Amino acid sequence: MLAVENIHTFYGLSHILFDVSLEVGESKVVCLLGRNGAGKTTTLKSIMGLTPPSRGRIRFKQKDITGTLPFRMVRKGMGYVPDDRRIFADLTVGENLEIAERKGIGGDEWDKQSVYDLFPKLKDLDHRRGGLLSGGEQKMLAIARALMGNPQFLLLDEPTEGLAPVLVKTLEERIRRLKEVGLTVLLAEQNINFTLGLSDYGYIIDNGRICYQGPVEELIDNEEVKKICGI
Ligand SMILES: Nc1ncnc2c1ncn2[C@@H]1O[C@H](COP(=O)(O)OP(=O)(O)O)[C@@H](O)[C@H]1O
Ligand SMILES: [Mg+2]
Repeated sequence: MLAVENIHTFYGLSHILFDVSLEVGESKVVCLLGRNGAGKTTTLKSIMGLTPPSRGRIRFKQKDITGTLPFRMVRKGMGYVPDDRRIFADLTVGENLEIAERKGIGGDEWDKQSVYDLFPKLKDLDHRRGGLLSGGEQKMLAIARALMGNPQFLLLDEPTEGLAPVLVKTLEERIRRLKEVGLTVLLAEQNINFTLGLSDYGYIIDNGRICYQGPVEELIDNEEVKKICGI
């Protein structure tokens, strides 16, 4: 469904991604693992069109989408949950969700009701302002908001960052449910145990290069992978 082919991405003169390639098949959960500063966020931003690569190609559903603007990527069915969440602090939880609602290419099954079924905690917080939520609640809201656009594909940037262990468990369960309903996910993470438990296939990135890849069964007990990921 998504193929990133040999991309190089720069911030100004800083060369950040070197020849990064990865593939995500339909209805798969694929992870991009690496320590802080490895290039995970830049890879997702390159796919989303926020930092277009200067070399290489990105194909989404067989079409070359390299350099496509972010809002067009959303229309093509790409959902994006940035690491900094970007929820509206002055709007309530319910309002944050309502303004994101649209029939997407992925269908129309996600609406306020169904995202509240997935995240019951958010339903209790319907009238609470976004800015008053805890970090974990904001994470859930950011994912719920992306779902309101009914994407076919979800880019998730470090959803477990700063979450208490009990919330990480909940999130793991929720992402499994998304997979069950057929959503395709590319998950950027540092949390290796959480991530490999969920994914079908993984890529390890270090210093802007993919240095390892394989089915999760092969990555899970790999000492080198643990070392690269800093655990
Ligand atoms: N806006 C930016 N301008 C310049 N360098 C950046 C910018 N954002 C990130 N970087 C650098 O790019 C590298 C990769 O960062 P990032 O993709 O955010 O890594 P990760 O998400 O894996 O932590 C880091 O060395 C970081 O310092
Ligand atoms: Mg990051």
